[in-house]
Amino acid sequence: MADRPRLTLHRLRQMGAAGEKIAMLTCYDAAFAQVLEEAGVDVLLVGDSLGMVIQGNPSTLGVSMADMIYHTKCVSNASRTAWIIADMPFGSYQESPEQAIRHAALLMQAGAHMVKLEGGGWTAPLVRLLVERGIPVCAHLGFTPQSVHALGGYRIQGQGPQAAETLHRQAGELAEAGAQMLILELVPAALARSLTASLAIPVIGIGAGSGCSGQVLVLHDMLDVTRGKLPRFVRNFMTGSGSVQDAVRSFVRDVKSGVFPDDAQHGY
Ligand code: KIV
Repeated sequence: MADRPRLTLHRLRQMGAAGEKIAMLTCYDAAFAQVLEEAGVDVLLVGDSLGMVIQGNPSTLGVSMADMIYHTKCVSNASRTAWIIADMPFGSYQESPEQAIRHAALLMQAGAHMVKLEGGGWTAPLVRLLVERGIPVCAHLGFTPQSVHALGGYRIQGQGPQAAETLHRQAGELAEAGAQMLILELVPAALARSLTASLAIPVIGIGAGSGCSGQVLVLHDMLDVTRGKLPRFVRNFMTGSGSVQDAVRSFVRDVKSGVFPDDAQHGY
């Protein structure tokens, strides 16, 4: 896998349109960037989950731009084949369009190919602005961890006709504004499937069932490194694997073949 050409946005879109599943994992450093790429992971997400996974914080809210730039550089220094997405951390895009553009540019300079920002509605004009300035954007709807307090904790989103309608509308607005990818987190599988079918861009699910264009998990969760109770959408890929590399290969294989996630076991 290490000798395949660098994945492009064009190719990711083709994969989404052709129903070829996209395998994404979070990645925060150079060593794992190599392991993940060798195992065939398509997209490395330098997620602000690093605030919890690497820094030991209770949420993603404390992650700074300096943290994101550092970890994006670590990943991009070692990466050869994957598409790299970097999270815009909390407080780096809420203030003004100018602030968002400045911070997105810093992440691109650190080696990201695309930035990700959370939320719908008010974010659509911001997405348009970034895309117009040559910065590819991945949107993030459903459960948005930076809003954990506003949402009242880790709760499934999009339940009920009105909430589902809002998600459909926001996803459409974001795609129309130019977002080239969407992450859907913690939403009912049936809703994620219909959202994916309604959009021309790849939709990557996490706790959103099997009907998405691809799947993402937090690396340390699927490698059984995270302690404490994990959400039901996480599968421990170390079970039955002889090595970390093997576990990541299993993740890629099972995402690509549609074996993971199993809606009955991992869905809502
Ligand atoms: O930061 C992160 O790891 C994420 C994933 C949960 C999608 O945003």
